[in-house]
Amino acid sequence: MAEDDPHPVECGSGTHQLEWRFSFFDSAPNMHPTVNIAVRAARRAGAVISRAADNLDVLTVRHKSLNDLVSEVDRAAEDVIIETLKSAFPDHAILAEESGEAGKSDYVWIIDPLDGTTNFLHGLPIYAVSIALMHKRQIEHGVIYDPTRNDLYTASRGRGAFLNDRRLRVSKRDKLIDGLIGTGFPFRMFEHIDAYTGMLKDLMTKTAGIRRPGAAALDLAAVAAGRLDGFWEIGLSPWDMAAGVLMITEAGGLVGDLQGNDAYLERGQIVAGNPKIFAQLLQVIQPHLTDKLMSQKT
Ligand code: IPD
Ligand code: CA
Ligand code: CA
Repeated sequence: MAEDDPHPVECGSGTHQLEWRFSFFDSAPNMHPTVNIAVRAARRAGAVISRAADNLDVLTVRHKSLNDLVSEVDRAAEDVIIETLKSAFPDHAILAEESGEAGKSDYVWIIDPLDGTTNFLHGLPIYAVSIALMHKRQIEHGVIYDPTRNDLYTASRGRGAFLNDRRLRVSKRDKLIDGLIGTGFPFRMFEHIDAYTGMLKDLMTKTAGIRRPGAAALDLAAVAAGRLDGFWEIGLSPWDMAAGVLMITEAGGLVGDLQGNDAYLERGQIVAGNPKIFAQLLQVIQPHLTDKLMSQKT
């Protein structure tokens, strides 16, 4: 068992708040004890990833499917995360990209041990570890750790989102035409490519610019930090999104599926942004929706 209370406790009551304030924490002040454990897991995974980044040539890489790569680093990072979480929360369930589902509980840890594997394998330093805790279908805590910059993003529901010890707020830009928008190109499933390129073409002419950095968790964190004004992607998995969406909502932004509804985790499609840009993105995207996209399930 970890030294901290492993069970998420109600926010705000005096004694607990004091304990949080003075407990050992890795980053943001008042960090929830559960987040502390997730941070420890993310930092350990980050160390595994950073060590391997110095020796990319010797890595064994396997294709899970077309353009979907996994290396022993993804697996080693995932193992260290699960081991850290399991020793603190032995009863919690796991949903992890490489090893899948384990256990049954109202508490589920959703883990992407290395988001941006393709970047990582090419030596392009845009990748991160993403960990979230979901309780009864609600995301309670999220951690995204960028080992290349030692940037730690944390969020707990109702307690805000932080980059290291700085509180995050989404941008204030209110016109799409001034907005810098992130996205992810389809790269392994191409069934929605025409709908997607229609959206892309339209948005290219209606925004200040489009970026495709290649690590969805960091893209979402960038929206939370106000560095991107909005984001959309089709074909994501829950582990790409879970921590990032909590960052955005805790930073004052909005998140939805391509129709603006709540089914983004189930559908694997996401639109996000500050409230003004979110609404304008949906308006541009809507005419390109197909029946398939509107009934999509991952
Ligand atoms: C991928 C990245 C990428 C996104 C893909 C994801 P992975 O995650 O987040 O930006 O476009 O859809 O699968 O495979 O590197 O963990
Ligand atoms: Ca991912
Ligand atoms: Ca991954």
